[in-house]
Amino acid sequence: MQRLLLASLVAAAAAAAPRRVAVTGAGGQTGQLAFRRMLARRDEFDPIGIVRNAQRRDELVEKGVPADNVRVADVTDAQAILEALEGCEALLIGSSAKVATLEFDTGVIDPATGRPKLGFPKGQPYEVDWLGQRNQIDAAKKCGCTHVVICSSMGGTNPDHMLNGLGRDDGDPATKGNILQWKRKAEQYLIESGLTYTIIHPGGLVDKPGGCRELVVGVDDVMVDGEGTNTIPRDDVAETMVQALRHEAFRNRSFDLRSKLEGDGDPTSDFARLLAPLGGRDCDYSLGKIPDD
Ligand SMILES: *[C@@H]1O[C@H](CO)[C@@H](O)[C@H](O)[C@H]1NC(C)=O
Repeated sequence: MQRLLLASLVAAAAAAAPRRVAVTGAGGQTGQLAFRRMLARRDEFDPIGIVRNAQRRDELVEKGVPADNVRVADVTDAQAILEALEGCEALLIGSSAKVATLEFDTGVIDPATGRPKLGFPKGQPYEVDWLGQRNQIDAAKKCGCTHVVICSSMGGTNPDHMLNGLGRDDGDPATKGNILQWKRKAEQYLIESGLTYTIIHPGGLVDKPGGCRELVVGVDDVMVDGEGTNTIPRDDVAETMVQALRHEAFRNRSFDLRSKLEGDGDPTSDFARLLAPLGGRDCDYSLGKIPDD
């Protein structure tokens, strides 16, 4: 009897239409990996990759991504994001302000210091990580998306984290730099939205193959000595974002994600049990600083 029931459930799941899930930052690094991981599971997902502009779309299509699965919308454009999310039941947020070398009239060298300087030439964290994510969360709610997954970053409990200093002296001090603080503000906005959420705080992102390492979870930037590195392959973060849609254990959770080195421990495959070591603990948003708008 039970076996029959199971068999019919499996059959029903197989027959269900693939889930239409949107992913932003689909032309970028982690977002694109999550997009490709869904494209590789077409029986389960019919993903929509959202990219910033037509050039990004053309790059993906040239690489073989079906044009029907790509939509163009800048996350800072609320109306465009709303239209791009039409018909989607879940959203993976892979957009992020991107650190790059600033260009000066004289070249890439800062005349003041004689060295290249890092900043956010394509959009400040305030615009991309706060307003851009708020637009996405608002649009997800309006479109009837039921689950939003954010790829954020570790370090959010420390207002003086090095990453917060990037771009801080580059314009209006009220809104410049502070990338981890603006990301944290968006996370709290999602938690308060009433939508089902999953917030992932990866450690330092590295370009190594996914699926080869044992993943390590935590909360509040606490790292136990000897339990993994402070880094994680981008592709493992991408896979965890997709798995968050598949397992109930990820619903309404916020956690840190790192990895052991390849060869140390067993590569993670049972995502339903990934968060079990946390015993129900989640990141505490009374820690760190969330700026006023
Ligand atoms: C997650 O929490 C929100 C309220 O913050 C609630 O509306 C939603 O139903 C919860 N989702 C699940 C799966 O428990």
